Amino acid sequence: MANLLSSLFLLFVAAAAVHHRQALSITSPSDVAALKAFKSAVDPASIPRWSCLASWNFSAADPCSVPRRSYFTCGLSCSSSSSGGPAQITLITLDPAGYSGTLSPLVSGLSRLAVLDLSDNSFRGPIPSSLSSLSALTTLSLRANSFSGAVPALAGLKTLQSLDLSYNSLSGSLPSSLSSLPSLTRLDLSFNRLTGSIPKLPPNLLELALRGNSLSGPLSKDSFAGSAQLEVVELGHNSLAGALEPWLFLLPSVQQIDLANNSLARVDVPTPPTAGGGGGGSLVAVDLGFNRIEGLVPGSFASYPQLSSLSLRHNRLRGDIPTEFGRKATLRRLFLDGNYLTGKPPEGLLSRGSAVAFGSLGDNCLRECPASSQLCAPSQKPDAVCKQAYGGGRPRS
Ligand SMILES: *[C@@H]1O[C@H](CO)[C@@H](O)[C@H](O)[C@H]1NC(C)=O
Ligand SMILES: *[C@@H]1O[C@H](CO)[C@@H](O)[C@H](O)[C@H]1NC(C)=O
Repeated sequence: MANLLSSLFLLFVAAAAVHHRQALSITSPSDVAALKAFKSAVDPASIPRWSCLASWNFSAADPCSVPRRSYFTCGLSCSSSSSGGPAQITLITLDPAGYSGTLSPLVSGLSRLAVLDLSDNSFRGPIPSSLSSLSALTTLSLRANSFSGAVPALAGLKTLQSLDLSYNSLSGSLPSSLSSLPSLTRLDLSFNRLTGSIPKLPPNLLELALRGNSLSGPLSKDSFAGSAQLEVVELGHNSLAGALEPWLFLLPSVQQIDLANNSLARVDVPTPPTAGGGGGGSLVAVDLGFNRIEGLVPGSFASYPQLSSLSLRHNRLRGDIPTEFGRKATLRRLFLDGNYLTGKPPEGLLSRGSAVAFGSLGDNCLRECPASSQLCAPSQKPDAVCKQAYGGGRPRS
């Protein structure tokens, strides 16, 4: 009996010791300091009582102590201290609680931080350039906040895979250091106030999204040279001008190209090499609507084996709709409305068996586009407009 009691007592002492050690200092002191600095840069009035940040109480608990009952209940993760050293913060993913304030430059003290995600809050001010010393960072998302100033040069972040700074108020041009991010596969800087041209892109990018900025100039082949994996190119709603050259459509992995609502003047679409592997084989969707593209509708689009969605709406295109479009079995969406297209819609396009399920050929100068066909809405341009567009003569057909 006495024996049992004393072993119970020993057990209790051991448990208390473990508890004591955890409560005292389980997290590396420099990480605790960085985390405190991070929290104190957030406006206290913007921290709701029920939020993750409210549970970060440094005088009540150690950030990495477990179990997390009342303090540090969410918003961060720690490395396990299995190696014997102190635990470190590996992840900060804040809840969208409406936090405002700034992002403390001292967050760079979290030397093992892999994920920093503050999306859907109201952080403001510059994105600290000290983030470039977070050498373990794989994911940075500051999406949908109010950050301003320049896109930080994150040069040297060899591990960064995903960078999402979309829906902020960032200005200036894109840093040329982007090309020195070897692991970056996803870059989203959409809906900011970025200007200038597109610099050389990171070599392993899969997804590029720069929609809704004020980027200008022609697209340069040099920027995309080496983008062998690039699948998604979203550059809509900018001020890009000049010609789209054949190389764009022949990027080896490209699937989606969105350049709608820019100021493009010409497009040169090559016929993709048939043997496969030569690029263009994966192209599924192209949106070049709302530009100033002149010339004929490129019939070569029909030779992209997977193309299922094409928009050239609201440009300055003339001439007939290529007959190939009437026979293209993969083409499900076709928007050619708002141009000066003439002649008769090609055989097959308006027929019952047509592959095209969505789209419009309306607001052109077409003959014989019957109002009974949905594809023909809205109605064609008035004769006078078409005559003027074709120099006063009869529209060519
Ligand atoms: C933090 O915890 C301490 C000790 O439990 C408590 O006195 C203090 O009020 C807490 N602070 C906040 C802001 O909740
Ligand atoms: C194109 O973008 C401008 C400015 O972003 C906007 O005002 C306009 O409505 C857009 N046009 C279309 C057709 O989306």
